[in-house]
Amino acid sequence: MAAAMSAVSPAATFRIAPSILAADFARLGEEVAAVEAAGADLLHFDVMDNHYVPNLSIGPLVCASLRPRTKMPIDVHLMVKPVDRIIPEFAKAGANIISFHPEASDHVDRTIALIKECGCKAGLVFNPATPLSHLDHTLDKLDLVLLMSVNPGFGGQRFIASVLPKIAEARKRIQASGRDIWLEVDGGVKTDNIAQIAQAGADTFVAGSAIFGAKDYAATIRDLRARLAVI
Ligand code: DX5
Ligand code: ZN
Repeated sequence: MAAAMSAVSPAATFRIAPSILAADFARLGEEVAAVEAAGADLLHFDVMDNHYVPNLSIGPLVCASLRPRTKMPIDVHLMVKPVDRIIPEFAKAGANIISFHPEASDHVDRTIALIKECGCKAGLVFNPATPLSHLDHTLDKLDLVLLMSVNPGFGGQRFIASVLPKIAEARKRIQASGRDIWLEVDGGVKTDNIAQIAQAGADTFVAGSAIFGAKDYAATIRDLRARLAVI
């Protein structure tokens, strides 16, 4: 594992993406404004359907309500099946990036094309046990690769460390492609493991409970960035 990880060079730009799944839903607009003022780079928007994952969260109506409240790009993570029907609705609601799980689409290439036709950046999401071979015929069309470091469905779970070599492998594939593709990691990201995750090759970090569970959002984001500064 150490050999695989040392072969990748860490990314030059790092982005922090608070997941609003861990926010106070009764004060969602204020929570979004607070993380933006605290220095967040993008807003991670988790969509769960109680079918693909055993939980139910928020949809395009909430995305549209938040859109005028923030300048941050909205990074929509779709945990829904089927996935295609809802994509144009999220694009209309102001999403900037839309990511989906290959298991939730019968035609992955078509779904990527649909996201792009709607004017959004396209991401593919990998569960901890989903092989990176799904990148074989898709990477040239993707803007984002999102690696789950927990099984999707809930915030506040523990980071699965066996994802670290997978991050390194994904970084190598991205480097070999020569394209500017973001590598995002989602699940259990905290101040005490973000440096290791960045070292493996991630450049974009989703953090739900680590940020919204803290008293001081700005101090937490500063702390996360400070851990990245030594990479
Ligand atoms: C899990 C979601 C994650 C989650 C992250 O299904 O995709 O974005 O909210 O939350 P934390 O950072 O608390 O693990
Ligand atoms: Zn997510």
